[in-house]
Parts: sequence; C-alpha cells; structure tokens
Amino acid sequence: MPESRCLQGIWSSPLIFIFAASGSAVGLGNIWKFPYLLGQNGGGAFLLVYCLCLLLVGLPVLMAEVALGRTVRSNPIDTVNDLSERRIVHSAWVVAPWIAGITGFLILSFYSVIAGWSIGYLERAVSGDFKGISHEGAASMYDSLLASPGEMLLWHSIFMMLVVLTVGQSVIRGLSAIVRILLPSLIIILVVLATYSLVIGNTSEALAFLFHWSWQDITFDVVLSAIGHALFSLSVGMGAMFSYGAYMNKRMSIARACTIVVGVDLLVAILAGLVIFPLVFALNIDVEAGPSLTFVSLPIIFGSLPAGQVVGGVFFVLLVIAALTSAISMLELFVAWMHEKFYIDRFKAALLLGIAAWLIGIVVLLSFNHWDNKVLFDLNFFELLDELTSLILLPFGAILLSVLVAWFIPRSMLQNEKVTKQAGHFKWWYNILKYISIPMMIVITVAGWIGV
Ligand code: PFF
Repeated sequence: MPESRCLQGIWSSPLIFIFAASGSAVGLGNIWKFPYLLGQNGGGAFLLVYCLCLLLVGLPVLMAEVALGRTVRSNPIDTVNDLSERRIVHSAWVVAPWIAGITGFLILSFYSVIAGWSIGYLERAVSGDFKGISHEGAASMYDSLLASPGEMLLWHSIFMMLVVLTVGQSVIRGLSAIVRILLPSLIIILVVLATYSLVIGNTSEALAFLFHWSWQDITFDVVLSAIGHALFSLSVGMGAMFSYGAYMNKRMSIARACTIVVGVDLLVAILAGLVIFPLVFALNIDVEAGPSLTFVSLPIIFGSLPAGQVVGGVFFVLLVIAALTSAISMLELFVAWMHEKFYIDRFKAALLLGIAAWLIGIVVLLSFNHWDNKVLFDLNFFELLDELTSLILLPFGAILLSVLVAWFIPRSMLQNEKVTKQAGHFKWWYNILKYISIPMMIVITVAGWIGV
C-alpha cells in the first residue's frame, strides 16, 4: 500500500473526513460564486431550487462517491480498471474517471486566477485601500485589477505554488488540522459581517430577494445552474470526494458525515448572501453583475467597518486558505493515481499538473483584458471554461459516477459499507439515487444543453 493511505492512525479519527471534505467543499464557490448566481437567477427561486438540488442530487451523489471511495480504498482510475478487469463494468467505463480528473484540473486553472484576486484583495485590505471607499471606487478597483494581467499573473502564480507545495505533501492530516481552525473562524467572521451588513444595508429588500420566490422564476436555466452549482460547491463528480472517502473511518456513517458537510457548505453560502445583498440593495449595485459582485461589495463593507483593515485582512486570509483547501482536492485524483500507479513522487506529480493548470490559467486571466473576445457561443475563454465544467463536465461526471454506483456495483457490497447507520435508511438513499438523482441530472442537463 502506498504511504499516503497507510499512515498510522489515519482511519482512527472520524472527524478527519468531515473536516477534509468540508475543506474541499467550502471555498470560492460559496463566497464568490453562490452570491452572483443568486443574483443572476432570481434570488429566492434559485435558493429554493438549490436547496432541493442539494437534497435530491448533491447529498445522494456525494454519498455515492464517498461510499465507493471507502469501499475500494484506491484511486478512481485504478478502481474502474479493476472493475472492468473483473467484468463488473464494460471497459469503456475507464473514460469516466478521466473525465472526472480532467474536470477538476480545468476547474483548478480558473479557480487559481480567482483565488489570486483574493490575494490581491488581501494586499489591498491590509494596505488600508478600502478605507471610506465608495461604490464607484470599489468598482474601479475591481476593474483596474482585471485590467492588469501582470498583477493577476503574480497572484495566480503565488496561489498555484501554494497548491503544488501543499498537494506535494501527504495532506489529509494537515488539511484536517487547518480546516478545524479555518471553518469556525470563517463562520464567525461571516456572522459578524452579515450582522453589520444587515444593520447598515437595505435589509428588507435583501431578505425579500433571498427568501421570496414565485413559480415563474423557476426555469430550466435556473435548475441547471442550481444542479451545476450544487455539484461544484460539494466538489462532487471530480473524484475529489472519492479520494477523501478512501481515508474515512470504517465505523462512521457516510450519511451522517455527508449531511454535516452539506449543512456546513449551505450555511457558509447563505451567510455570504446575507453579507452581500443588504449592501447591494442599499447602493443599487446591479444584482446581475456576475463575478464582480462579491469583489465590489466586500471592500465597501470593510471600508466603513471600524477596524475594517484588520477584519478585511483576516477575512481575505481565511478566504485564500478556504480556496487552497478546495484547490488541493482538484488535483488529488491524478496525483494519487500517478503516485500509486507509477510511484511518481507526489510533489513531482503535483508540480507537473500545477504547471499545466497554471499555463491554462494565463489564458484565463488574459480573457479578462487583452483576449476578451468571444471564443465560442458568445462566451470568452473564462466563461467558456466555467460553463463547460459546471454545466456539462460536472453533471456528466456525476451522472457516470452515480450510474456506476447505483446500477453496476453489487448492492451487497454497498450494504456492507454502512452507508447509513440504519438498514432502512439505506433503501431511501439507494432509491433516491437511482430514481430521482440520476434521472433529474440527465433530464435537466440534457434539456439545458439543447436550450429548452
Ligand atoms: N467546492 C469548491 C468551492 O465551492 O469552492 C470548488 C471545488 C473543489 C470544485 C474541488 C471541484 C473540486 F474538485
């Protein structure tokens, strides 16, 4: 067994999985992406559909991925190869883990650029640049960052270096120790900021926007975005959670652990919404502004907050660490595979993949300025990568993984796995995965692609 899987005591703490998986789930998806998707998809309607997607798709698929990882305790590529050699699945299935790995890798290439923005904002926060900043000032600060490929390249490179250095270690223990401090701190700071924002902002409009919905707001596009984001936010469909499942204590109920991860992930996302929208409505910021929403709103909050320089600095440090604990899981599939299959040193594997993702990231950051032209379907390179991964590759990877677990892996093998503590609950999960999650993902994604 490779060293990363058999470290003494690695199975002994049930909390290690919860912390590592929450570290992967909670990241820029919650604080940067969720608020702007809410803004673009009608607020309350999106929140409602998103919660349903977490329950009916995200949680069951997350459980499936973790259960398979824990059952086989190997990396996804070798697992499927092995299943195909034992004739449990057709050899064509070997493409599934590759799609999963490539999706994680592609996400990393643009995720690192956005995480780089967070480092840039950390620098601005501690330098006091946010002090008394107006809406116009914050908007032009964001625009000027996006207009500086050199600066973005610096932050993107620093972030990617951190990712490579961290993945290069055998991370699971260190990761769980970091997340143990990170998550409570992030939640506390978000609660403080949300309270402040609700006091100074337009609370009634923000709450109405977030928690009211009407039927006509629920379109296929909204459901497609919600499913894509549920998978993105829970880091499922990319083999990341599969790898973490392999580290999970045998006695622990997968259902319970995964429900906690989903709960924490949703809590952080809602808190981010409560921080941003009161201000968005108070200052008439366009709710449909897209990726700029979080980065324009936050400096205004920190700029007016007593001790905003310190609070802003701490917040962006936490955000960068949250992004880091997510980013490392994107490389885990290929790094674990290269290490286990070819005995390539984890650091070398991470470096190789990191350089490749860094190069793609350069094209991404140029797509915000010099190469802002539309590449395909009226989208620039960044938008194309984002939509390709969230709306096509992620659902596709999640569908393949769920079909594998629900239709091909012998049921008895999963039943032995203690997916749920009580046998009766197992049936619920299995049937929801088979008859609700999979059909829902197929219908919605196909309908979304053909533009129903
Ligand atoms: N779940 C992460 C976030 O919400 O920021 C993003 C992510 C992590 C996507 C790991 C994919 C992945 F493999």
